[in-house]
Amino acid sequence: MSLQRMLKLLYALVLCVSANEDFDWTKNERGSFYYGTFPTGFSWGAGGSAYQTEGAWDKDGKGMSIWDVFAHKKGKIFLNDTADHSCEGYYKFKDDITLMKDMKFNHYRFSISWPRIFPNGIKADHINEKGIKYYDDLINMLLDNNITPIVTLYHWDLPQVLHEKYGGWQNASMVNYFNDFANLCFERFGDRVKYWITFNNPWSSAVEGYETGEHAPGLKLKGTGAYKAAHHIIKAHAKVWHTYDTQWRSKQKGLVGISLLADWGEPVDITNQRDIEAAERYVQFYMGWFATPIFNGDYPQVMKDYIGKKSAQQGLGTSRLPVFSSQEKTYIKGTCDFLGIGHFTTRYITQKNYPSGRGNSYFTDRDLVELVDPRWPDPGSEWLYSVPWGFRRLLNFVKTQYGNPMIYVTENGVSEKVQRCTDLCDEWRMQYFKDYINEMLKALKDGVNVKGYTAWSLLDKFEWDEGFSERFGLFYVDFLNKNKPRYPKASVQYYKRIISSNGFPNQREVQSVKPLNHMEMVTEIVVPTVCTLCILLAAVFLMFLLRGRF
Ligand code: NOJ
Repeated sequence: MSLQRMLKLLYALVLCVSANEDFDWTKNERGSFYYGTFPTGFSWGAGGSAYQTEGAWDKDGKGMSIWDVFAHKKGKIFLNDTADHSCEGYYKFKDDITLMKDMKFNHYRFSISWPRIFPNGIKADHINEKGIKYYDDLINMLLDNNITPIVTLYHWDLPQVLHEKYGGWQNASMVNYFNDFANLCFERFGDRVKYWITFNNPWSSAVEGYETGEHAPGLKLKGTGAYKAAHHIIKAHAKVWHTYDTQWRSKQKGLVGISLLADWGEPVDITNQRDIEAAERYVQFYMGWFATPIFNGDYPQVMKDYIGKKSAQQGLGTSRLPVFSSQEKTYIKGTCDFLGIGHFTTRYITQKNYPSGRGNSYFTDRDLVELVDPRWPDPGSEWLYSVPWGFRRLLNFVKTQYGNPMIYVTENGVSEKVQRCTDLCDEWRMQYFKDYINEMLKALKDGVNVKGYTAWSLLDKFEWDEGFSERFGLFYVDFLNKNKPRYPKASVQYYKRIISSNGFPNQREVQSVKPLNHMEMVTEIVVPTVCTLCILLAAVFLMFLLRGRF
């Protein structure tokens, strides 16, 4: 979470409180708990990504990525940390698979580092066989342990050479370079990998990489950079899907999807049409930006309208939002075998009633204000408030907007600040998992087609511009120790229990992690048991009475 975003939220909160004094913060309180299990075959796992966990940044022929270079610049990352070593996952993946096996994971989500395979980004230049061997070994060992690999092709680590030579995702040539990389991965790993994710959270790559500059490559091309990057990313995704479809699908029988991150946006006032539209706009500018072209063939109408209108007001001849030709629309539409969803948090949204003085940008294009309820728990990252009910709403939104696609939750979890987790007792994370997974279960009962859940993340790891200061892991990693030992947090046992029960079959399964206190014992065991006995006795008594009568 950047200072900029923190200030924005604070600003939004102050605005809201002054503008909506009668706003009822108590609405949407947590709903009731839903006991039940997931369908047989539901896939449980956890994830990580190459730059965040592998380390070995310059080993065995790996080239530089934009993140290697960005993190080495002073002042870009909290405490000037880098992921040069991080969890040393490159060397310790066998130990990590042992941890996963013990937790009885069905799948593990990881990403392939493009510059580890093509050090200069380009196939014709050089293929690094040592890099290929690393992923071969990782995939083989996962499969030997009955853990399905879910593989992301792009988790933000563009080869630096492509950035220097062409401007990275600002340039249309990335489409073919990425397709070459993906094609090689299909060729070399596709006999064993059946779940491919083209891009992880392209929203971040576009907005934080090319608009705010908080992420690599750190460009601040306000109002245009993010839209251009996203345009090329969407085309690259579609091209890779077609490559798989035409060249590999019949042989390899796998699936190709994309992983989109989205917060849920809830209208501040659910009876106010302008707030309802602002909240919808928030989600459309977030997830819809990528999902709508991929499922429906073009950008969301609301994005075309808003960015078009603003561009005209700025005296521009054309919209800052690029346009797909009709051929491209047909080519892009339907290029998703499953949708990966990354979800962490929710915002209240209200219409912005005054023009922004901050010039044109992705953020001002949306004409809305983001708010948070100060009472929402936020144990770790400043931006991450625990609002489980938002997850169910987001999943239902996906179901209705995109024709009930097959969904894998590719990221969901919560962090803690370094100081909090000294005794590995992360009860807030257990609560977060319990509540969010329960909302996912409710969404399943609503008819949402969720097939799997990926806890984010397996290990504490490099958290981008926040360095190592925010820990998302189920396992604590001691980064100060050269061997990077892993220690299970309490949530490991808890998640393990959810996996082995395939959900929440009864009260005891859920609560036995923590002993019941006296009051809970009375309300949750004694009272229901006595009530059930009374009802049974009454029924028997009634039966006797009725029998005597007739
Ligand atoms: C989404 C990113 O994909 C992931 O790499 C990151 O760790 C989480 N957000 C948490 O910030």
